[in-house]
Amino acid sequence: MAIRSFVALELSDEVRERLTELLKRLRQTNAAVKWVEPENLHLTLKFLGEVPEEQIEAIVEALKTVAQVTEPFPFTVRGVGGFPDLRRPRVLWVGVEPTPSLMRLQQNVEQVMGQLGFPPEGRDFHPHITLGRVKAMVGLEKVRAILNEYIGVTFGSVPVKHMTLFRSDLSREGPTYTPIALLPLSQHQFSVGE
Ligand code: 2AM
Repeated sequence: MAIRSFVALELSDEVRERLTELLKRLRQTNAAVKWVEPENLHLTLKFLGEVPEEQIEAIVEALKTVAQVTEPFPFTVRGVGGFPDLRRPRVLWVGVEPTPSLMRLQQNVEQVMGQLGFPPEGRDFHPHITLGRVKAMVGLEKVRAILNEYIGVTFGSVPVKHMTLFRSDLSREGPTYTPIALLPLSQHQFSVGE
């Protein structure tokens, strides 16, 4: 059996709550956008797609090697945008600052997943948290007006202590994301005399 899966960073309760408030306002516009359910908000590091069940263990082991050499770090959630842009967006998102720690972690994940045969993303990594996927370009004026209020606004900082391998089960009601494995980042223990 194949398992649709991806590697991601989870959000803090504080940031999730702030984004949930924003999503509540965005939903009220009734624009043709499939908004992400608050519990599904995350920062994707690597989308793996359909993975044979037998390969999951190797993926977890590879992610462990990355996690063990990565010290906990924070990421800042700030600003809003769209892919390809906010004028004709297909995806609406809040931004994540591309700090060296975050970019290094993503590159390391990309590298070890590449070794397992997962093709690299053909495009640069733009860290973001997807808020919604545009179904049709109708009613987007109100969405843009709300998002414009958040340009440059900081939603908070998320302390990263682990990464998560998720499975994604698709249904007509939308995707359900379930953690398969939590990979704790290195907790360097300083001892006396070190
Ligand atoms: P996103 O991070 O831009 O939202 C789970 O589906 C996650 O993997 C989503 O958050 C999604 O994008 C990301 N992802 C990347 N490439 C994908 C693809 N080809 N199909 C589905 N999801 C993809």
